[in-house]
Amino acid sequence: LVSSDVTVTKSPTGLAEEALSKASQLYLLEQGRNLVYQLYVSIKTAQIYDRTNVTHIKQSENLLDLVKNLFEKDEGIILNSKEGYLFLNEIRLQFSFERYVSSKFLLETFRKFQFESLTISSQVTKDELDDFVFLLARTHPEGEDVFGSLEEKIVDSDIQHLTVEKFAGEWNIRDEDSSENEKKVAKKRFFKTVSVAQEMVESAKTGRSINTPKSKRAIQFLIDQLIHDETNLMSLTAIKNFDEYTFAHSVNVCILSVGLGTRLGLSKNKLSELGYAALFHDVGKVKIPLEILNKPEELTAEDWEKIQMHPILGVKILLSKRALDKFSLGAMVVAFEHHLKMDLSGYPQLSFKKDLNLYTRIISIADVYDSMTSGRVYAKTPLAPDVTLKRMIEEAGKSFDPVLLKVFINMLGIYPVGSVVLLDSREVGVVMKPNPDELSRPQVAIIADKEGKKDKVEMVDLTRIDEKTGGYKRTILKTIDPRPYKLDIARYIY
Ligand SMILES: [Fe+2]
Ligand SMILES: [Fe+2]
Repeated sequence: LVSSDVTVTKSPTGLAEEALSKASQLYLLEQGRNLVYQLYVSIKTAQIYDRTNVTHIKQSENLLDLVKNLFEKDEGIILNSKEGYLFLNEIRLQFSFERYVSSKFLLETFRKFQFESLTISSQVTKDELDDFVFLLARTHPEGEDVFGSLEEKIVDSDIQHLTVEKFAGEWNIRDEDSSENEKKVAKKRFFKTVSVAQEMVESAKTGRSINTPKSKRAIQFLIDQLIHDETNLMSLTAIKNFDEYTFAHSVNVCILSVGLGTRLGLSKNKLSELGYAALFHDVGKVKIPLEILNKPEELTAEDWEKIQMHPILGVKILLSKRALDKFSLGAMVVAFEHHLKMDLSGYPQLSFKKDLNLYTRIISIADVYDSMTSGRVYAKTPLAPDVTLKRMIEEAGKSFDPVLLKVFINMLGIYPVGSVVLLDSREVGVVMKPNPDELSRPQVAIIADKEGKKDKVEMVDLTRIDEKTGGYKRTILKTIDPRPYKLDIARYIY
């Protein structure tokens, strides 16, 4: 209930009223989320069970209870969908990660039947709710006027206290729109995983055990997303301006590693183990003072000594988990090995010869790439993605597994997302998405033209042909160093 913009000049009663209205808003929000969730479960249940089934009957009672409860506070309920969000009586509902699926499902249902809002009035009956849920669950939208036929069915079923309103604009179900949506989903998952990573690191700090089911779930989501459309998530790893570097770094390494693992044809199970190990590769760093990790000056020999302890500290933290499953075993191996190079130089120093684990070889490539492009540890200033790759190629065989590195570069493209390029049109662009079939012709956001800065960013696909000449419209001349331009790459990717 704390709000930073409460003014002190208000009378005590004014403040009390304000607190009350805040409280009722919070209540409404909570109930709104519940309503969305219960509607989702009801529709799902109705798709499987008949009306006489116990599961359905129980669920419809849940829904009715909730709806009746809402009316104690409000006259009617309007559930609205606007620009990919749900609103309850004009208040935007935000969803936790677990509940996110329910909101997505409901939005999809609204879209499918072409209605924008659903109004439930306080006289609604159990039968009406039931009928409506079954209508949504079992009708396949058909014909030109999907909304019209739904409305007709509502009238036929004599549902009087539930009304739907047609979407005012055109429903945009073209590709662009769904890819926009996918981008949003990818972003949400990315940030959710960052927060899961953050939580886990926090608990590692205080010595509590690391919550494995939660992290496994987060990774599962990442993997599903990567399989579905990896470029969206992959492009998010180009965002480097996080306050809390370690979390974002761990998530980036996770995404890049799983991406690489996917290309190697690893099974879903293996990918989960790999992702888990990647997420925890630097977990030992929580035991190293932040003053050292965030030191702006050069590190002293002593600092280095401390930093080089993090692989072993990581193993210790992972060991403190009570149950040792395949996930934690893999993570331990990687935590221990990830700063060892192919030739076994690096740290910790080994007194024996061994082959590095496959997960380690994958993760160390992702790790070095993300570190170098972020400007931490390896170099104080961030290197451009393509420069980083060039440096890494020089180290192939010595530091990195050359075959894996090749696959990695293929995955990112010769011009990875976030590279700043000069085009033959004398325009400057930021690489947004690789074209898998033509690595040298990615999709680019033009941020400056011949005259200099542009107010509006224009997206272009470099595979586009100029109809007049028959040649390509634009071609990359070279990559350029973005630093003098003080570009905030994240701005274009968000
Ligand atoms: Fe590390
Ligand atoms: Fe790392």
